[in-house]
Amino acid sequence: MDWKLDRESKKPIYKQLAIYIENGIADGTFPPDKPLPSERGLAKELGINRSTVVAAYDELESNGLIDRNRGSGTTVSKDIWGIAKKRIPSWNRYIEAGSFLPNLPVTQRIHKEMAEHNLINLASGELSQDLFPLNSLREITSNRSLRGNLGYDHPQGNLILRKTLTDHVKQFRGIDTDPSALLITSGAQQALYLVVQCLLKPGDAVAIENPSYHFNLPIFKSTGIKTYYLKGDKDGINPDDITDLYRKHRIKMIFLNPIFQNPTGTLMSLERRKKILELSSEYGIPVVEDDPYSLSSFSNEKIQSLKSLDHHGNVLYISSLTKIVASGLRIGWIIGPKAVIERLSDAKQQVDFGHASYSQWIANDFLDSKDFTSHMSKLVKQLESRRDQMVASICSFLKEQAEFNIPQGGIHLWCRIKNEFNEIQLLEESIKRGVIYVPGSTMGTEKGYVRFTFARENEETIHEGIKRFADALSVVST
Ligand SMILES: Cc1ncc(COP(=O)(O)O)c(C=O)c1O
Repeated sequence: MDWKLDRESKKPIYKQLAIYIENGIADGTFPPDKPLPSERGLAKELGINRSTVVAAYDELESNGLIDRNRGSGTTVSKDIWGIAKKRIPSWNRYIEAGSFLPNLPVTQRIHKEMAEHNLINLASGELSQDLFPLNSLREITSNRSLRGNLGYDHPQGNLILRKTLTDHVKQFRGIDTDPSALLITSGAQQALYLVVQCLLKPGDAVAIENPSYHFNLPIFKSTGIKTYYLKGDKDGINPDDITDLYRKHRIKMIFLNPIFQNPTGTLMSLERRKKILELSSEYGIPVVEDDPYSLSSFSNEKIQSLKSLDHHGNVLYISSLTKIVASGLRIGWIIGPKAVIERLSDAKQQVDFGHASYSQWIANDFLDSKDFTSHMSKLVKQLESRRDQMVASICSFLKEQAEFNIPQGGIHLWCRIKNEFNEIQLLEESIKRGVIYVPGSTMGTEKGYVRFTFARENEETIHEGIKRFADALSVVST
């Protein structure tokens, strides 16, 4: 077979092979009347793993280019080589050409593994089902039935929910706003997406924390935005670094997750939070404060977000119900100057005609009920107990090999592994042992880290998950 593997290419090997076969189908190298090589035979001929050939064939099959039949092997799809020899478009070329970039391959792999196998999940940044307020939500949905408008709602979000959220952020987060300055989004994720799409343009420079959730977001790259990193310590990022980035790169926006940061769990010191607001005012650069975790403080301390300290309208505040109620509701919001909110709301209307009304009613009725506060205090206690278990299990199974700060809220623990290890091998060995986590390179530039989430599993499975991880590490560390 006349195919050369390019080991320097960023494209995974299975993709290179899939493209080669796809082109071969198009130009007749692989005719419809002959079977394609077997997976085993092709792997041997090319000197690659059989699983790589399987992945290439999987992709070709899902694009409708080949058929795999038990017994008769793999053939070019009859649908494209019918009697009239009609050709279907080269989907791979379209898939590669789009300007919206895919997730990192390792992130895709983690999602696929989680969807297909029953693993101990220390990777998903969400609560487990048993932490959702299921009884309250059940009661709300049965009382609610279909009362309310099921037509398109206001593109900014249902007004009643916006009023409830205005009261919620006042009572629980010390933020003064009004419903016209708040947009309901599909999670915090969509709010971030809209900010990037509507308020920035290709070539703009922004500052993000390293490591951070944002590091992992291809939406910056898709839009052609340059990201510059702010390194943190146990008190968050150093505000002086913002000055440096402003002077060197004229950054246009700063993205921060100051409270129980994902992935480090760090709470930025109050002094630094204040300093950042001063710098934002001095340079006239907005701060996008991503704050999904501030209500989950284990000390019950009310933490002042940047937005609650912002008296000049410099901060765009993003939050959601994902980490405190249920991720599947997809309720998030952004608060900012009215003109900005109207701009984002106009874009949201173009994207999806506004948020689904049903989940907005449910969210409204739950936030408006007395159950919300009792749910929060129960949730925080359970998260703290899971955090304690994770710390104990790491100390017991990884001993001196691991180094971490104990998070005082949120759901993540960022762990440095002192032994040298190959990141992909460690992930593969862990998956083999039935546990999954997030490799550090997807969230930051420093080597040797992993992110464990303690909200998705209970104490027992956290313990077992860390044990299996330690076993995987013992196989790969050098
Ligand atoms: C810091 C941060 N921002 C935003 C999100 C997106 O969450 P959602 O869209 O579910 O609200 C996450 C999820 O992990 C997160 O950790």
